[in-house]
Amino acid sequence: MERLNGKVILLAGGGQIGGALARRYAAEGASVLIGDIDAAGAEALAGEIGEAGGKAIGCVLDGRDDGSVGAAVELAKREFGGIDGLHANFATFADGTGGEDILTLPLETYDEVMSINARGFVLCTRHAVPAMLERGGGSIVYTSSGAAHQGDALRAAYSMSKAAVNALMRHVASRFGPEGIRANAIAPGVVIYPSIAHHLEGEGGDYFLRDMALKHFADPEDIAGTAAMLMSDDGRYITGQVISVDGGSSMRP
Ligand SMILES: NC(=O)c1ccc[n+]([C@@H]2O[C@H](COP(=O)([O-])OP(=O)(O)OC[C@H]3O[C@@H](n4cnc5c(N)ncnc54)[C@H](O)[C@@H]3O)[C@@H](O)[C@H]2O)c1
Repeated sequence: MERLNGKVILLAGGGQIGGALARRYAAEGASVLIGDIDAAGAEALAGEIGEAGGKAIGCVLDGRDDGSVGAAVELAKREFGGIDGLHANFATFADGTGGEDILTLPLETYDEVMSINARGFVLCTRHAVPAMLERGGGSIVYTSSGAAHQGDALRAAYSMSKAAVNALMRHVASRFGPEGIRANAIAPGVVIYPSIAHHLEGEGGDYFLRDMALKHFADPEDIAGTAAMLMSDDGRYITGQVISVDGGSSMRP
């Protein structure tokens, strides 16, 4: 499929799911600018895509820094002529790791999570939307999480940041829909890849699988398939939605 031929997509945040997103966008014909705080990782991913025949560039993008996000958008305009799609995907997972709840969560950690996961997506939106309007519109995909709508005893800040992402998405869809911009959020459930697979072996994994209709975890490619549909004309009438890609762990109205 080459549903994204001629489109330019800024992917803010590489990593595991981001790697699958970048490969899929490029495989479907898009030119992809991959920005990540880990510039070397973004460049390596872009290099791999280039060797496979795709079009991608990697650059540094720090989601906490307005200038850095703006520079990535300018780079996309300079190298590829503009932006048709933004996928805001980066995140920090800084809270909950030590068992802290909202009473014991250090406020510095709360601020860090909100600054990267919520404010960072605001910065991406503020720089990408004007560039997309210059091309007559486009599609924005935000990577959210089931944590935004499901209970979580540990990750208060992370869950709050993802709920903020969903609200941002609805604002953007409402405000810029009339000007040709669609916005949607993908809420993954548990996405498994080699570096976290050991956490989900045995009882740890059984806990999550218990309430899942499809009795296996997602692969990053499952997220990429939905994202590519939303970036393409196949998703042209979908906007303002939080789409769960979670094997049926949450079945929301
Ligand atoms: N893995 C899962 O089970 C799961 C479930 C639900 C939602 N998600 C969401 O999927 C997205 C991708 O997560 P992942 O699992 O691939 O994790 P990951 O750690 O592999 O990827 C996150 C990426 O964000 C980058 N990053 C961190 N801080 C940044 C900053 N300030 N500026 C720019 N980049 C920054 C990291 O360098 C990394 O490349 C996240 O938004 C996450 O919340 C993941």
